[in-house]
Amino acid sequence: PSLGSVLNSFDFEAIARQTMKPEAWAYYSSGAEDEITLRENHAAFHRIALKPRVLVNVSHIDTSTTFLKQTRVSLPVYITACALGKLGHPDGETVLTRAAGARNVVQMMPTLASCSLDDMLNARVDSQDTWFQLYVNADRNVTRDVVLKAEARGCKGLFVTVDAPQLGRREKDMRLKYQEDISDIIVKTGGDEEGESSTSTGQKKVNRAMGAARAISSFIDPSLSWKDIEWLQTVTRMPIVLKGVQTGADAVQAAKLGLAGVVVSNHGGRQLDTCRSGIEILPEVVADLKRAGLHGKMEIYVDGGFRRGSDVFKAIALGATGVGIGRPSLYAMSTFGQEGVERLLDIFREELEMVMGLMGCTKISDITEDMVDASHLSTR
Ligand code: FNR
Repeated sequence: PSLGSVLNSFDFEAIARQTMKPEAWAYYSSGAEDEITLRENHAAFHRIALKPRVLVNVSHIDTSTTFLKQTRVSLPVYITACALGKLGHPDGETVLTRAAGARNVVQMMPTLASCSLDDMLNARVDSQDTWFQLYVNADRNVTRDVVLKAEARGCKGLFVTVDAPQLGRREKDMRLKYQEDISDIIVKTGGDEEGESSTSTGQKKVNRAMGAARAISSFIDPSLSWKDIEWLQTVTRMPIVLKGVQTGADAVQAAKLGLAGVVVSNHGGRQLDTCRSGIEILPEVVADLKRAGLHGKMEIYVDGGFRRGSDVFKAIALGATGVGIGRPSLYAMSTFGQEGVERLLDIFREELEMVMGLMGCTKISDITEDMVDASHLSTR
């Protein structure tokens, strides 16, 4: 199939399924256990209806917005952190960096990248803002060094993943038993840049018979707690955002600490099965922050199952500043490289423009809560 035949984000997925190496497909596509949350992530959007306004002059539509009070982006969408880019493309995460730069969106660079942090940062175009996703290492010195490095090299936000005290059980991935040595694929952003497979844990080899996800689980520290977040606040001046918050209560706690934001996310349905989708949790987060008098003190991001411009619109209406795209960017990268990812971002922009026009919105700040009927979401 040609790139010209791709009409929407699902098309990249269909082509990826047919053309990717089976073990790479298994790692990217899998969710935890019965994949109920994985399916629910997109299905939840079906329960939100749009309520368009008419007779608004929509001849000019502007999808641009600002993230973390500093980065002007072309649309309220960013490429979220996903480990192991080289499973899908020989140039790995740098493909995403270049596409993000070309389309003026933000890429969140992963700790468990398969390119070094330097490689990713060197792939930026001038004035391209990026974020760094952090898995806190059991060795806090390793974590401090990588955070300081990310800050020194101009990363504009630190996204601390808090939903992975251990890795979820992804059985599709486990069954396939990844054949290559994963330690050659995972690099190093959490640790030594050039050191062989000296990973963030200082561990030399990971067990190749475990499935890719199992193999990387040894990089994660189950002791991570709120105290470590307070410690990180003393380490860096980058805005800190917690990635993987799933309740209003935790969002309120993050706001009380003075953090810059939260990403409402269930890790793409890859961690705890049968938890709620990000879009379903969003109203609870907004309501609890309002009740605590902390709404507006912190930005709210969301990810999981965003596949259409209308999905993005619904999240903005329900109070999100921006939306993370995970698997679609991996599938676009794996099938058509940088050009594919650029096309994916164009598709999101075109779809969002169309929905905004049909909804009677000419700019992001025109999108308001009363434009969606979210009463079929089961919040509480
Ligand atoms: C992820 N995600 C993830 N998150 C994170 O904080 N650190 C990581 O290393 C990874 N790795 C990763 C690998 C793969 C293959 C996937 C699909 C996802 C989760 C990711 O950032 C995001 O939360 C979800 O992917 C969003 O859901 P969608 O867009 O994939 O449905």
